[in-house]
Formats: sequence, structure tokens, C-alpha cells
Amino acid sequence: MVTVEQVMKMGPVIPVLAFKSAEEAVGVCRALYEAGIRVFEITLRHESALDAIKAVKADLPDDAIIGAGTVLSPELAKAAVDAGCAFGVSPGLTPALAEAVKALNFPFLPGVATLSEAMQAREWGFTALKFFPASVSGGPAFLKAVHSVLPDLIFCPTGGIKAGTAADYRAVPSVVTVGGSWLTPRGSDGSIDLATVKELAEEALSASDDR
Ligand code: 3PG
Repeated sequence: MVTVEQVMKMGPVIPVLAFKSAEEAVGVCRALYEAGIRVFEITLRHESALDAIKAVKADLPDDAIIGAGTVLSPELAKAAVDAGCAFGVSPGLTPALAEAVKALNFPFLPGVATLSEAMQAREWGFTALKFFPASVSGGPAFLKAVHSVLPDLIFCPTGGIKAGTAADYRAVPSVVTVGGSWLTPRGSDGSIDLATVKELAEEALSASDDR
């Protein structure tokens, strides 16, 4: 079993993915994997999300780490564990969810957007946090301020991050990786172009090598 800290350290970017079908999920995750991505957050926002997670797990090599995103409740945490997810991510945290993921021993990245939420999560034992929605909650400047008072916390900021702003977040000492959906844009017909996905993923990975 991997810890959420280990998951965060596996790459400079975690794609946040929302798929319409298991078939779409397999194609896009394969393209991301071929570009060098090893950690995948598949959000539980579509009915087919759990099927998509199982299909991607079956398709990709064993070094691919598949997690569930948008884990809003104890029930979804249990469903994610049952589907074989290596980790879970939530935009926020409630007492019930904190209790459930601990009981399930599920590596978990809860979301916070304020100092008090970060302190509450820390009291519950979570020191690796998602900062969401990052771009409208203070961006890198907020994370720098948090780092000065809570230096033991590490972050994966997500929400509104693009190729052009990822480096500003990674420059903050507490930021281990960033998350976002910008690697998998949908065209006007609603489809995800695999060549574009590969290009964006390669760009994101090489941009972080340059820092
Ligand atoms: C998430 O769940 O983390 C966000 O939907 C990702 O945010 P983005 O779509 O703005 O990258």
C-alpha cells in the first residue's frame, strides 16, 4: 500500500479526470501513461466512474497508481476502496468522512481552502492536503502564508491551475505536486483528443524538469 505522501511525490502533476464512459477512460489514461504520467485521479462525477476506474486499472501496467477524486461521503470512500483505488481525494473534509477513511485505512487527500480548515484537518491527522479551489482561494500567495505558520503541512493545489501557472505553485516549498484537468480538454464536440492529451502531459512533465 502506498501513502498519500508517496503518491504526491510520484510526479509533478496529477491529472484530475472526469470520464463519460469506461472506454473513454481507458483511451485517455493510456495516452497519459505513454506520455509519462503515473498517478491518475478519476473523479466520481459520472455514473460510470467506478467502471472506468476498474477498466483503467486492468488496462495500465502495475506502476500506474489509480485514485478516486470527488470522494464526498463515507459511502463513496467505501466504493472507491472496493473498486481497488490506491488513494482518494476530496474537495473538502467532514468529520464523518475523516472517520470513514481512517477506519478504511484509505490513503486520503482531503481538500481545504482556509487556515481553520487546514488546522482542523491537521488535528484529525491529515498533513497532506489538497488546496481547492486554488486559483480563487488565494493561489500561491495563500500557500506561502500557510507554510509560514504550519510548516509541517504539504499540499497539492488544484482548481483553476493551467500549464502557465503550475510553476508558480510548485515554487512554494510546501507544494509537492499540482492537480488539474487542463491535460484533458474537451473539444467543441465533447470528445477528448488523445494527441492533444499526450502533448499537454509531456509539456507539463518537461516544464517541471526545467525548474
Ligand atoms: C478538482 O476536482 O480538483 C477540480 O475539478 C480540478 O480543477 P480544474 O478543473 O480547475 O483543473
